[in-house]
Amino acid sequence: MAETAELRVGDKTYELPIIEGSEGERAIDISKLRADSGLITLDPGYGNTGSCESAITFIDGEKGILRYRGYPIEELAEHSSFLEVAHLLMAGNLPSASELEKFRESIRYHTMLHEDFKSVFSSLPKDAHPMAACSAAVGALATFYPDSLDPRDPREVEVSVHRLIAKMPTIASYAFKHSIGQPFMYPDNRLDYVENFLHLMFATPCEDFTVDPVVAKAIDLLLILHADHEQNCSTSTVRLVGSSNANLFAAISAGINALWGPRHGGANQEVIEMLKTIEGEGVSGREFVERAKDRDDTSRLSGFGHRVYKNFDPRAKIIKKACFDVLEKLGVNSKLLEIAVELEEIALKDDYFVQRNLYPNVDFYSGVIYTAIGTPDKMFTAMFALGRLPGWIAHWLEMHAQDQRIGRPRQVYQGELSRSYVPASSR
Ligand code: ACO
Repeated sequence: MAETAELRVGDKTYELPIIEGSEGERAIDISKLRADSGLITLDPGYGNTGSCESAITFIDGEKGILRYRGYPIEELAEHSSFLEVAHLLMAGNLPSASELEKFRESIRYHTMLHEDFKSVFSSLPKDAHPMAACSAAVGALATFYPDSLDPRDPREVEVSVHRLIAKMPTIASYAFKHSIGQPFMYPDNRLDYVENFLHLMFATPCEDFTVDPVVAKAIDLLLILHADHEQNCSTSTVRLVGSSNANLFAAISAGINALWGPRHGGANQEVIEMLKTIEGEGVSGREFVERAKDRDDTSRLSGFGHRVYKNFDPRAKIIKKACFDVLEKLGVNSKLLEIAVELEEIALKDDYFVQRNLYPNVDFYSGVIYTAIGTPDKMFTAMFALGRLPGWIAHWLEMHAQDQRIGRPRQVYQGELSRSYVPASSR
């Protein structure tokens, strides 16, 4: 017989099913609790709430394990490519050589943006943050491509998914080009996905541009490492918006906004700004760590801590190593990397961080690589969004395949009791 849990409230007992995941994770299914008892559960921040059953990504935060569709992140980082990982996340299996080629071809075919898109970007202020520009542009895709918006039509879904993956590098690069006043570049479909992105970002119409293979490989790796992370804030946002049957572009645009926050993907920009401040002000690593611990100081050690990982974030380990490799290959001597290493060493030995299980997360070292290849700080979180896109899409697809009900949490009301309106003249 399937295992159950019992909940006793007063003299009543409720039997609740226990769901067991494929990796042994157990959950009490409370989906019928309110109907049976009138009670709801309360879990602000959802630290203890499973919002769905999912087959995409597995994380064991205690052991520092991350797998996409069963494949360890370390193996994918070493052997795979971003588009292959995107296919894996969305379709569930690694593609055959011919499936991968077909997928690549379709993505190549859709890289160009509607010409009128240029005016969408041109109408934004020059100092618009790229994340605001990207979310606006992704939302605007729904106005340019109204023929692929129905989430229940498999053909329309496929077209919108391929369009979005193909156009995201173009969108991100337009946000960047607009901010520095350079002309928008057209995609070059002879190049692969990452090479094309670098061409869109760093080429100009005046000069030849050759993609540095060291840089392309580093970006491909970073995109793989950012591609999914189960029910994080932005992915849950995508699922929640998608559950209303809003179109894919609308759901992803919302996800981009969620990612922007400094507690989430925006931390990669915060980290580099923190390192530059430490360098600029001549503050010692020890001094800064003391500030980050002080409740009366607003400083935090950006890029440290994670809701799920209570051990090393496996992505941070890979990125730290890549950081040293890439900088060495590019011949870059980075003071920022030295400061990051010093901060990490101090924090990992400090009781405050040890007791709270705070380790470097994915954002701690990524910015050092982005900086070394000439990416401005404000673009970092947009690079994260580019990587996370296939994960968001995979969850949007899975949520629809599960035919999930509209996402609609409850609340415990703690406000005023019923009272009567009093006209302004009598208040
Ligand atoms: N620096 C200093 N103290 C920290 C840090 C940090 N980076 N992170 C957590 N803490 C402390 C908190 O103050 C709290 O201390 P307390 O128990 O004395 O009150 C304790 O550690 C637990 O932290 P919470 O904020 O309650 O943990 P939560 O799981 O809610 O938050 C989060 C996780 C948001 C990532 C947090 O660690 C943080 O703000 N880190 C810095 C921002 C960051 O790097 N975000 C990127 C995360 S990865 C990603 O989203 C891509």
